Amino acid sequence: MTPRDGAILLGVESSCDEAACALVRDGREVLANAVASQIDLHTRYGGVVPEIASRAHVEQINAVIAEALRSAGVGPEDIFAVAVTHQPGLIGSLLVGLTAAKTLAWIWDAPLVGVNHVYAHAYAPALDGEPIDYPAVALVASGGHTALYRCKSPTDMTLLGTTIDDAAGEAFDKVASILQLGYPGGPAIDRAAKDGDPKAVNFPRTLLKGRSLDFSFSGIKTAVLYHVNGVPGVKYDHPRGLEHFSRREIRDVAASFQQAVVDVLATKIRRAVENTGAGTILLGGGVAANSALRAAAEALAKKLNCTLRCPPLKYCTDNAAMIAALGWHYLRAGRTADLHLAATATVRR
Ligand code: KG4
Ligand code: ZN
Repeated sequence: MTPRDGAILLGVESSCDEAACALVRDGREVLANAVASQIDLHTRYGGVVPEIASRAHVEQINAVIAEALRSAGVGPEDIFAVAVTHQPGLIGSLLVGLTAAKTLAWIWDAPLVGVNHVYAHAYAPALDGEPIDYPAVALVASGGHTALYRCKSPTDMTLLGTTIDDAAGEAFDKVASILQLGYPGGPAIDRAAKDGDPKAVNFPRTLLKGRSLDFSFSGIKTAVLYHVNGVPGVKYDHPRGLEHFSRREIRDVAASFQQAVVDVLATKIRRAVENTGAGTILLGGGVAANSALRAAAEALAKKLNCTLRCPPLKYCTDNAAMIAALGWHYLRAGRTADLHLAATATVRR
């Protein structure tokens, strides 16, 4: 189906802990981007509690949809199609947005489009910006995913490598918890690292040997834990434990951890570009908001003579604008769904 010129898609996102709705024209121009964050609900647990997330989505979803329509001054008659995240994510959370989107598509008699959340992160650099030049290499790094793709177009993505254990954002969150810097951990580490010495502690850079494009972040998390609390059974001259670390030492640990993660991510991007000959590097996902990663990617792109496309910060973390935008390309490719569209927690590609 060819969307008419100026077609507006309504996007719905509820895969994790953000209930979001957006209106996007022609696959790039964001008219509204409403996001209801649940950070306050999950902070006391130090991470997202799936049951709490899905219940909160039920309470928030209608309000964010109404907010998006109100702020864009758009009515149902202006909506060409409804795009929704249907995979991957927390199953209970996905079902809330999917049910809402199906209902809207049904009552408005509009096409329904199912969108992969991770692919949408890789398309976020196009929001409010120029079209992306393909072929590209995309790094999507968030709290739930770390993956590298070769992209021939917004709808043609091939997985090159992924994490074999923790996601990069998860490592940021866990290390911030070890250092008691708060939740979510990524922004807290980013802030603390600004005044720290990235060379103070030499944390491991895992899976840099060979040509692998996979990632592993559980080792560095344990290395930080041992650095702070000591290796069990080993005797130390100085007492271990966070209470014995000065603020400056904590900032040094944060900066050193961040540098190690950024080194790994940048190395893998470089290999992927060399392997594919892509001329564009795309960053997406919450970790793409990291200032050290953005700076390293900028330097790398210059060196490799590539164009770097980073989304504005508000489109790095979860949002529905990226869903509506990628949905427009799916629609053009004829990839519409019907009301049987299923939610899928894990996608193996
Ligand atoms: O994309 P996102 O909103 O949700 C998922 O799909 O997971 O990403 C959230 C993740 C969290 O782990 C958070 O700590 C991380 O992105 N994050 C950051 C930064 N801002 C958010 N990590 C590193 N540096 C940041 N500035
Ligand atoms: Zn995400």
